[in-house]
Amino acid sequence: MVDQYERSAEFIDVMMAPRWPALGPVLAEALREVPGPVVDVGAGGGHGTRAIANALPDAEIVAVEPSPALRSVLLARVNDDPRLRDRVTVLPEGLLEAELPDRLGALVAMNVIGHFDPAGRNRIWESLAGRLLPGGRAVLNLQPPAEAVAVPEFRAVEVRIGRRVYEGWGRAEPAGPDRLTWHMTYRTHQDGKPVGEVGVSYDWWLLTEERLVGELEVYGLVPSRTGPAEAGMYVIAR
Ligand SMILES: C[S@@+](CC[C@H](N)C(=O)[O-])C[C@H]1O[C@@H](n2cnc3c(N)ncnc32)[C@H](O)[C@@H]1O
Repeated sequence: MVDQYERSAEFIDVMMAPRWPALGPVLAEALREVPGPVVDVGAGGGHGTRAIANALPDAEIVAVEPSPALRSVLLARVNDDPRLRDRVTVLPEGLLEAELPDRLGALVAMNVIGHFDPAGRNRIWESLAGRLLPGGRAVLNLQPPAEAVAVPEFRAVEVRIGRRVYEGWGRAEPAGPDRLTWHMTYRTHQDGKPVGEVGVSYDWWLLTEERLVGELEVYGLVPSRTGPAEAGMYVIAR
């Protein structure tokens, strides 16, 4: 499988970090009293894995992360914290190739569902429906835009570390009726001067709420919105 994060991994974890203070509490609420085990799909560097662990202090967690570079960050984060090390298992495959527990309390797919085409999503819903324990659920977010429209370049995030400022810029163009190509540019500045630039493109499959409802219905699953509208988060249950 192609690692779309190979060249951007060094920026991804620090650029995801500012999103998690808002996402974490909504995820924690959505997972309240859910039984383990919990699968964290596309765990990246593990901000979500840590939020799940904080929300469910006794649950076993399986963090699935196919990108070797991001998985290095994830393993280090898990290894550094004894509360994670004892109960987080990191799997190196993509979700559709990974061997998941037979029964699941939850599946968390934050900032990742666009990496799966419609056939891949159907496999996820089928696997979820077959594995969910009573009281179990999935939590995911849908990121704008929902339609295949061009997105002009904008600065998505800026992080200062030491003397350097790291900026993530994004623009997108349609790549099909329900598909975008995101072109990201990661720019580094020091003392106000540019010192580095890395450009990366990602394929992203679009999913509307309406389509999500239709895809899940086939498997007897129902999504409901959770958290503030701008988080775009859904809880999926039977
Ligand atoms: C934007 S990052 C999100 C990371 C993390 N979930 C977060 O919200 O901070 C998307 C992640 O999905 C992972 N990913 C891509 N394709 C995947 C697949 N088929 N199965 C599992 N993870 C995948 C990428 O390697 C990357 O770590």
